[in-house]
Amino acid sequence: MATNRTFTMIKPDAVQSGYIGAILEKICSSGFRIVAMKYTRLSTEKAGQFYAVHSSRPFYGELVDFMSSGPIVAAILEKENAVEDFRKLIGATDPSKAEPGTIRALYARNVGENAVHGSDSDENAAIEGSFFFAGTDIF
Ligand code: RTP
Ligand code: MG
Repeated sequence: MATNRTFTMIKPDAVQSGYIGAILEKICSSGFRIVAMKYTRLSTEKAGQFYAVHSSRPFYGELVDFMSSGPIVAAILEKENAVEDFRKLIGATDPSKAEPGTIRALYARNVGENAVHGSDSDENAAIEGSFFFAGTDIF
């Protein structure tokens, strides 16, 4: 059964470009409620752990370097059908293939520096949320 929460990060490219406000506005006006949020920076070790599922992929080193290159915004979002609806809102991994109006179509630079992360399953949403937030930090 689908749960009602997903996990997101505004990635270093979008933070650096000044898009935090615009992206949070888009998320909130699309019906997601922020239940936890943090402005932080991942160490290379933490970025490696977060994306460990991709450790055998050719882009893994680049991904870890990029995700630890500057501050990010991490958040847990709540909405009915959150995981699937948020993946629709962010669009395809490669912004040149993302639907017009999606966050990646609007704000991503390229397939690697693609503005936002969105969990791909309810199970991963729960794992990823607890990677950043204690239960007492979720409201
Ligand atoms: P995310 O996990 O960040 O929400 O992205 P995603 O599901 O759309 O894509 P995924 O396959 O999980 O890849 C994770 C992140 O790795 C980088 N990537 N680079 N250079 C490349 O070909 C490549 N492919 C993926 C992206 O930052 C992607 O979001
Ligand atoms: Mg993914």
